[in-house]
Amino acid sequence: VTGDHPIGAAATLAELEHDPHPLLARLREAEPVSWVPVLNGWLITRYDLAVAVLRDPGTYTVDDPRFSTARVVGPSMLSLDGADHARHRGAFTEPFRPAQVRDRFAGFVGVEALRLIDAMAPAGRAELRADFAGPLAVAVVAEALGLADADAATVLSWYASIVESVSAVTAGRPATESGRAAFEELSASVRRTVEALRPSSMLVAAAAGLGAAEVVSNAAVLMFGGIDTTEGMITNAVLHLLDHGAEPDENAVEESVRLEPAAAVVDRYATRDVDLGGVTIRRGDLVVVSIAGANRDPAVFADPDRFDPTRGNARLNLAFVQGPHFCLGAQLARAETLIALRTLFARLPTLRLDGPSAPRGLVFRKPPTLRVRW
Ligand code: HEM
Repeated sequence: VTGDHPIGAAATLAELEHDPHPLLARLREAEPVSWVPVLNGWLITRYDLAVAVLRDPGTYTVDDPRFSTARVVGPSMLSLDGADHARHRGAFTEPFRPAQVRDRFAGFVGVEALRLIDAMAPAGRAELRADFAGPLAVAVVAEALGLADADAATVLSWYASIVESVSAVTAGRPATESGRAAFEELSASVRRTVEALRPSSMLVAAAAGLGAAEVVSNAAVLMFGGIDTTEGMITNAVLHLLDHGAEPDENAVEESVRLEPAAAVVDRYATRDVDLGGVTIRRGDLVVVSIAGANRDPAVFADPDRFDPTRGNARLNLAFVQGPHFCLGAQLARAETLIALRTLFARLPTLRLDGPSAPRGLVFRKPPTLRVRW
């Protein structure tokens, strides 16, 4: 196989983590379905092929024992396809509709953003990922979960322990003890929330359609879906706007997430032998969709490496995927990012970058630090 895919064969993890875009462009051009040994899977970099994979869950499923998140938190909407997926997801769709997002979350995001900015304002400088984007992302997920007895700091500590455990399992080691303990505490908190019928928690409504363990697994997945990703989306957007002297608006946010999707890849597993773009994928093979690659496909986005906040079709980007696993939190994440940016730029009108900064990461892409002054 390797002989057919020389660019994929030569790819390194360092290249994919640091500045993958030149490599992804070469792959898209010559090997849009490429076997990449360091990923032990196929990497899909063309927009049309990415969409074909994402829209065909019968052939390219998420439901596979190798999916490490499910091994730590149990089956959830993120790891199921077909009727079970619809049942899990259906229990959570209502609170994430645009009107609900506006009514339930927009006010909270604005207040929380302002609180964080006011806390850092007197210093005249900050590291925006740790001081602003990260805490805001956690606060919003904690608010959405509405747990009876867990504040944002507690939710963050559970999340960190569970992520560490998932990473261990991904690397072939056993789940960690602290990950297990955190998941137990999350489970207990979810159960207490559901029993107390807390009206502000979406978990109560979800419990009407799901078993107790299923509610817990999906609560964990909301943490997984909403924390690292939104932190990255906000941080990347601030970086792009400051780099280009652009103002925050909906299209600029969309263009930012096109250029650097906070989740750069998603994994699928082939359920049968299948031809994709002239290449035969074998049943059981890992198929990695490069969202970052598809989002810079020149067949869809003219001059794709350019940040153009007025780009007419920026919203066609795949940052939130397409098909049945379309990001449940997409409307919330978009609204949250826009409110965060508007509040930041309005409150700190002299905001500017304080040193170089660039996104990195294989899956979650964001600058390790984003230093600013005002
Ligand atoms: C409040 C913030 C967010 C929440 C609560 C959230 C929640 C979720 C959930 C529950 C899913 C699983 C849906 C399903 O499998 O049916 C999902 C999928 C996804 N989300 Fe989000 N998300 C958020 C923000 C983001 C952001 C900022 C990004 C990237 C910019 C993102 C990218 C994705 C992607 C790529 C998937 C698809 C995963 C796959 O197909 O394997 N999400 N999200």
